[in-house]
Amino acid sequence: RITAMRLGGLAFALRGDPVARLMHKPWRLDPYPTYAAIRATGGLARSRVGISAVGTHALCEQVLRDRRFGVRLADGRPPFAPEDTETKRSGARPSEPETSLLEPVDLSLLGLDAPDHTRLRRLAAPAFAPRRLEQYRGVAEQITTGLLDDAARRGRFDLVTDLAAPLPITVIARLLGIPTVDADRFARWGRALATALDGVRSVAHAHELARTTAEARVLFTELVERRRADPGEDVVSQFVGALDAGQMSLDELVTLAQLLLVAGFETTTNLVGNAVRALQATPGQWEALVADPSLAAGAVEETLRYDPPVQLTARIAHEDTELAGAEFRRDWGVLVLVAAAGRDPEAHPDPDRFDLRREQTTPHLAFSGGAHYCLGAALARLEGEVALRLLAQRMPGLRAAGRVVPKTATILRGPRTFPVAA
Ligand code: HEM
Repeated sequence: RITAMRLGGLAFALRGDPVARLMHKPWRLDPYPTYAAIRATGGLARSRVGISAVGTHALCEQVLRDRRFGVRLADGRPPFAPEDTETKRSGARPSEPETSLLEPVDLSLLGLDAPDHTRLRRLAAPAFAPRRLEQYRGVAEQITTGLLDDAARRGRFDLVTDLAAPLPITVIARLLGIPTVDADRFARWGRALATALDGVRSVAHAHELARTTAEARVLFTELVERRRADPGEDVVSQFVGALDAGQMSLDELVTLAQLLLVAGFETTTNLVGNAVRALQATPGQWEALVADPSLAAGAVEETLRYDPPVQLTARIAHEDTELAGAEFRRDWGVLVLVAAAGRDPEAHPDPDRFDLRREQTTPHLAFSGGAHYCLGAALARLEGEVALRLLAQRMPGLRAAGRVVPKTATILRGPRTFPVAA
């Protein structure tokens, strides 16, 4: 009763503060009414707990594309760095190497501004170009077929643990050229890092993260040596070329490879989970896909708009500026609610309706925009399309067979478990 009263009190306190509500579990489970409340403020909401957020399509796109906003503080320090007055005064970068518990996210592309970001992005981009990735469609189909064969034999299975999670982890391992696919170990790394996006919960969680990055570091450092001696078609072999040409350091390569492993895992898992959930929950949609599996690509795009795997990102102003008509000072941060943008009626008519045939005249922002636009967007679309198409073809009678348990994170949204019957 005390807990219920406490929660009730907290809920009351947060009632008028939609940005703070996003951090609080009951509202996280269905954040869309909160996003509507944020859009209703005119798009820029300032919280009493000191966080700002933008929630209309126009403002989200504006912040993501505006070069006066970046991902680090104006002087180049990462936002998680301890205060260093000496560095701040001289404007110099700290001389000791940067460290972070969330190394692959904070210290690789996602956590870098120009010029380091521009240099690394140019080196990484060719490996993820849509044409180059097309050769992986067959690989994704083969992996999905194997997973569905296993699932069909059992009749009842878990959509997340038996399909949505192993598919992207196996594809990215293949792409990176990781020799023995240790799916369980990778899944553990992915989960530890993904949950950390919402904050480190405990000392045990911090230890787990440190162990995870240390293990991944060993694996990729060994892989670089192996590929240097025996190059292949994989992405790490391509990066070794850049390393040997002095365009990238070994540390940068290893951190980038770790980012690719985690960025493409939990996100794509959520995409497949959220898509099947919306298709099953909206009358006529699953049947439409079964009747015409070529609608799978449309279902992927609609899921990205309607219930995106990554709900929000953040930016920091690099100079004093103005946002939605209000003062916005240098080094102030803003949450960019890309999931709220997808439900903005100004950009998407009848936004709360899921329709796999929808033609999006305004493209969704689920893959972000501007300099940090998702590097793996083409790969995610490919995997999502293959999973939904083969699922509809192989299991036309698919139906929910138990309670869907959602993840309760703020940034990444998707089912944790999703029991289904073929
Ligand atoms: C960046 C979403 C799949 C690799 C991003 C960002 C978003 C995003 C929102 C930008 C964050 C920001 O602007 O701050 C997604 C979603 C996916 C997905 C929704 C699946 C449905 C993938 C895959 C890969 C990948 C499969 C690669 C294997 C990356 C990388 C970045 C990134 C490397 C950093 C780009 C940069 O900072 O320049 N993703 N992603 N993502 N994504 Fe994805």
